[in-house]
Amino acid sequence: MSNVRIGVVGLGYWGPNLVRCLARNPACDVTYVCDRDASRLKNIASQFPAIRPTDEIDDVLSGDDVDAVVIATPTKTHFAMAKSALAHGKHVFVEKPLATNSDECRELIELADLKGLTLFVGHVFLHSSPVNKLRELIRTGALGDIYYISSKRLNLGPVRRDVNALWDLAPHDVSVMIDLLGTSPLAVSCCGSSYLNAGIQDVCNLTLHFPGDRLGIVHVSWLDPRKDREMTVVGSEKMVVYDDLEPLEKIKVYDRGVEAPPTNSFGEFQYSYRYGDMYSPRLEQFEPLAAECNDFIRAITDGGVPLTDGINGLRVVEVLEAAGESLRLGGSCVRVPHWSRTDSHLVRKRARPASIAAG
Ligand SMILES: NC(=O)c1ccc[n+]([C@@H]2O[C@H](COP(=O)([O-])OP(=O)(O)OC[C@H]3O[C@@H](n4cnc5c(N)ncnc54)[C@H](O)[C@@H]3O)[C@@H](O)[C@H]2O)c1
Repeated sequence: MSNVRIGVVGLGYWGPNLVRCLARNPACDVTYVCDRDASRLKNIASQFPAIRPTDEIDDVLSGDDVDAVVIATPTKTHFAMAKSALAHGKHVFVEKPLATNSDECRELIELADLKGLTLFVGHVFLHSSPVNKLRELIRTGALGDIYYISSKRLNLGPVRRDVNALWDLAPHDVSVMIDLLGTSPLAVSCCGSSYLNAGIQDVCNLTLHFPGDRLGIVHVSWLDPRKDREMTVVGSEKMVVYDDLEPLEKIKVYDRGVEAPPTNSFGEFQYSYRYGDMYSPRLEQFEPLAAECNDFIRAITDGGVPLTDGINGLRVVEVLEAAGESLRLGGSCVRVPHWSRTDSHLVRKRARPASIAAG
């Protein structure tokens, strides 16, 4: 098959990284870059003179030489742009989060299914080498039963005004936890506070209640003195710390744990603490964003289901939406709904391509 021709919309902080990765990918050609901000457009156009610049998304959507559109604009614009791109018959890659609510996500999934197009969401960490290793350690049983996963995603900025810290930062951790545990949480509770802009939480603490009494604990903030990107997986046999800021040894596996032997003759519990070895497994070296772009292009060319498809995007938004409700209720536990394609009247009515039916 010939190269996939791609238009990238949104050239702010993140979009240029996507342009760079896609421009290097031999299986695609970036035909358009688009941004309303003239200086950002000019900057990318000067680096990639072969790519056509435009400040009007309609040029990209109506372009004959565009098979797919990559959307890296603010969250509130995702739904309308993705819907319009799908309606124009384009495959779509939307940056995280897929949309601002689960109704919008479902509509995009149904539209993509109806048109036989790929809908992809930018949960980039699911395509990364450390998360591949965590997945392998959990699925092979090396860590034993998983008790809980906790994460911290903290930094001073960048402060957003269109979404709160939960919607901006937590999609990464939530997508990783759902992937690692192989299921969505049943319920969530969330607390947070706004200090800089009224009604936009700068710091949030989200607790995810997974089946089997497993917990996910996510702490996000853009109002923190230190940059911190850490996830800890605690299993019955071993524990793992994933520090994304470590240059090489991002994953450390600790042979540590606590056993509670039977009560002794004085009726006391004697916990025994195991302080075994720590090792750092070798990780394959590749750029997650490049792997993510590969998966998007492969899904378009093979017609297969990508790792981070529309349903994957919906699962994260279902959690964020329930977490938003919990925030409004002052931290009460809120059930997370799990929509599936079989719930869609639209999808049930028509024969779906085999590759899509698998999702
Ligand atoms: N995967 C990741 O690790 C990661 C990291 C950062 C941001 N993101 C996501 O990327 C998206 C963009 O974030 P950002 O930090 O780059 O935002 P940003 O505000 O820096 O950039 C957004 C750009 O979109 C442009 N834009 C807005 N409306 C437009 C329109 N109608 N037509 C054309 N251009 C338009 C703006 O001019 C701006 O240049 C968000 O969804 C964010 O969550 C993902």
